[in-house]
Amino acid sequence: MNMNMTKQQIINQLIPHLQPAKLQAKGEADVNIALSKYWGKRQTELNLPTNSSLSIGLPGLGTKTQLTLIEAEHNQAWLNNQLLAPDNPFSQRLDNYLAPFQPSGLKFKLQTQNTVPTAAGLASSASGYAALALALNDLFDWQLDPASLSILARMGSGSASRSIYQGFALWHKGEREDGMDSVAQGLSHTWPGFSIGLVKIDVNQKPIGSTAGMQQTVKHCELYQAWPAQAERQVKLIQQAIEQRDFTRLGETAEHNALSMHATMMATWPPILYWQAESVSAMQKIWQLRQQGIEVYFTMDAGPNLKLLFLAENKKAIETAFENITIIQPFG
Ligand code: DP6
Repeated sequence: MNMNMTKQQIINQLIPHLQPAKLQAKGEADVNIALSKYWGKRQTELNLPTNSSLSIGLPGLGTKTQLTLIEAEHNQAWLNNQLLAPDNPFSQRLDNYLAPFQPSGLKFKLQTQNTVPTAAGLASSASGYAALALALNDLFDWQLDPASLSILARMGSGSASRSIYQGFALWHKGEREDGMDSVAQGLSHTWPGFSIGLVKIDVNQKPIGSTAGMQQTVKHCELYQAWPAQAERQVKLIQQAIEQRDFTRLGETAEHNALSMHATMMATWPPILYWQAESVSAMQKIWQLRQQGIEVYFTMDAGPNLKLLFLAENKKAIETAFENITIIQPFG
């Protein structure tokens, strides 16, 4: 097998044809928060990860996408009702993603509505590329199964593979060069009362995106060597915790996983630090609450905002401690 498969080769294997079935299609997906993170790629073109990851979807927060075939000179990307310039990095990334699917003589008009602020530390690329993969599947009527859809979404953004599902999702890192086993799977377990609190510290554009941040870490961080094995172990622990509804194990493992990922970022050169002073204050508040017997943990992604993990019984205490927190209970 070719050592470095291209996106085009994978698409040839994955999809049955390139004949559009209609002129307009839709896709919709939720954002997801990784409880055990994806950080590092073993292959960049296909977004093949160095480690597996496990997430929870946030119902109602995500992306709605409409894809229309139009006669035009260029693809058009609309984000929240605004037409983006063709040289906008967001449009260029989309152009690049859509290139293998372009029907001859027609262009794509992509209208995307995000219900989360772009670059707010809530991974909108995850819901964005999952919604786009679903819209493509609808436009061409490929009738792909969820695992194949997760591959399609993953080639846009790794974390998008998990946003094909609702609830808990596990993205297997896979071993194959072509990534056909690097698929996400939905976990059937539910957890009534399981709560996620979004603590916004700063919603402005972050200094370095996750794609570049993880590349830099993989290349220039000696501590990173320890990460893949740790992450793999923690995915298993969290999966068990979900199966057994062991909240302490889940929370401790998720927080430890997030801090370990951030430790690899800080130990790269030049350093990457997404935290702000207020992020650290929020962490300290969480640790104090735990000392007072309120079981709350946090996770953080490539940004300064915190995502709190707790059970419904502590909702009031959390609302009192964190003003303006947004709380989501994925399973009611
Ligand atoms: C810290 O999926 O945004 O949120 O594959 O380059 O698009 P690309 O990266 P992306 O990285 C997400 C990193 C993370 C952890 C996670 O969601 O697992």
